[in-house]
Amino acid sequence: MKNIKNVLVINGPNLNLLGTRETKFYGNISLTHLINDLQIKAKKLNMTLDHVQSNAEHVLIDTIHNSKDNVHYIIINPAAFTHTSIAIRDALIGVNIPFIEVHISNIYSREDFRSHSWLSDISQGVICGLGLDGYYWALKTISNRLI
Ligand code: DQA
Repeated sequence: MKNIKNVLVINGPNLNLLGTRETKFYGNISLTHLINDLQIKAKKLNMTLDHVQSNAEHVLIDTIHNSKDNVHYIIINPAAFTHTSIAIRDALIGVNIPFIEVHISNIYSREDFRSHSWLSDISQGVICGLGLDGYYWALKTISNRLI
């Protein structure tokens, strides 16, 4: 079941607007472009990469639950749910899949409420403020650890 190295990228609310939303924080590259490119990189690293973006908390939770038996590693940008969702925290603990938390912007240089994450202490690591590069660094780290 876990013979192939499967990575799941999860993006939370409003990240479907990547490329047009608050470009000073999030840049002007679309989510579709990012994911297509990450999939190419993953293939070169001998991994599969699936992606789910949702604006609904329960969809993200169901996605995490459904990953239990077929995903080796999760890269998650929970977006605003970072700062609010104990339910996503519990889901990640519940399935026991290692994950890396990514934020495009530097959440520590913005409003105070963005400085707290409900996920960071249970993550393998956090990458924040490096723009979209954060997703690529997360993928690279996963490939270093899995192969
Ligand atoms: C974000 C930071 C969050 O505070 C914000 O709500 C987002 C995106 C980031 O990638 O920088 O939607 O997770």
